[in-house]
Amino acid sequence: MTASPTATALVNIGSLVTNDPALGEGPLGVVENAAVVFEGDRVAWAGATDAAPPADASYDAAGRALLPGFVDSHSHLVFAGDRTREFHARMSGHPAASYQKRGAGGIRTTVAATRAATDAELAANLSRFVREMLRQGTTTLETKSGYGLTAADEARALRLAAGQVHEVTYLGAHVVPPEYEDDPGGYVDLVTGEMLDACAPHARWIDVFCEQGAFDGDQARAILAAGKARGLTPRVHAGQLSYGPGVQLAVELEAASADHLTHLTDADVDALASGVTVATFLPGCEFSTRAVYPDVRRVLDAGATVALSTDCNPGSSFTSSMPFCVAVAVREMGMTPDEAVWAATAGGAAALRRTDVGRLAPGARADAALLDAPSHVHLAYRPGVPLVAEVWQRGVRVP
Ligand code: NIG
Ligand code: FE
Repeated sequence: MTASPTATALVNIGSLVTNDPALGEGPLGVVENAAVVFEGDRVAWAGATDAAPPADASYDAAGRALLPGFVDSHSHLVFAGDRTREFHARMSGHPAASYQKRGAGGIRTTVAATRAATDAELAANLSRFVREMLRQGTTTLETKSGYGLTAADEARALRLAAGQVHEVTYLGAHVVPPEYEDDPGGYVDLVTGEMLDACAPHARWIDVFCEQGAFDGDQARAILAAGKARGLTPRVHAGQLSYGPGVQLAVELEAASADHLTHLTDADVDALASGVTVATFLPGCEFSTRAVYPDVRRVLDAGATVALSTDCNPGSSFTSSMPFCVAVAVREMGMTPDEAVWAATAGGAAALRRTDVGRLAPGARADAALLDAPSHVHLAYRPGVPLVAEVWQRGVRVP
């Protein structure tokens, strides 16, 4: 006989975000004076405290807010070194070293450091970030390769990522590495050939940095099509530094998400509203590069599904904090607090095509963040304050 899993009730939740409109108020499905019951790694029940079923153990939330664990659907965490000097120069008003450039900064700086690092160094660095994110309420995390740019280094990054994170993305098409400077076509052949062979077994997703100085529309199309043919689902870095073909391509190829979207045409907005591709905004990136913030309002008003993510990486956005991204999205991007919290949880789940996370309803994974605050609105109202008090992942309270 198999013992049934232990049921733990979290009671006296002042305000519970379920993201299930059938369970509570509004699109966030908010329940006041709520309880949830976790059974094993799943949510068994959610509703009002006085209607909660009996459980083996209980945890008193003391009137605080509980929300689904954040789903961070875009990060670049397999790397070595940092780029403090580049950031310092940019913030000191010196002409910024662009992401693509060699020399005093740029992606290639991190590529050199990452290639030189041992597996153990990369794994330790990654685990530091995973832990840092978990403490801030991120219970589902995507991360990418993209700082190896050889078949062996990209495959190594994905293998290490798969050991620690939930969703893994092959980004061999991050930039053209120095050894292919004079032969970008040869690099695309590598990314779609030998490198793809080495990487496809370790990843679920394929991504391309579709941008001037990185990969143009034709190259991006070829790379994503090759990935699709190997069973990987596309996602695209689109419209980060300039207007470009990335969004249209993402929607056409039914990519799971188009990310950044700092530069969006009206046609791009229409495409996002009519397709299956989630529009993922990365507020930490505009914040950290002093770029103009995108107007998420027009994308939301057009009816597109919106996600928020950190883009955590050593160059353009070295924050691991989803609460910070929620606060910036509300203050700078025209999102309401409810929209931003939805985008950071259910939106991230949609961007990863996951239905088991990003909500606290029966059957979902028991992943939750308890705030030292009475409401999820405090995530935007109290920017920079470490409000995440407790985190549960798969039903276990994180020590
Ligand atoms: O998403 N845009 C390309 N890639 C990263 C930046 C990576 C880096 O600067 O190291 C991004 O912003
Ligand atoms: Fe990115």
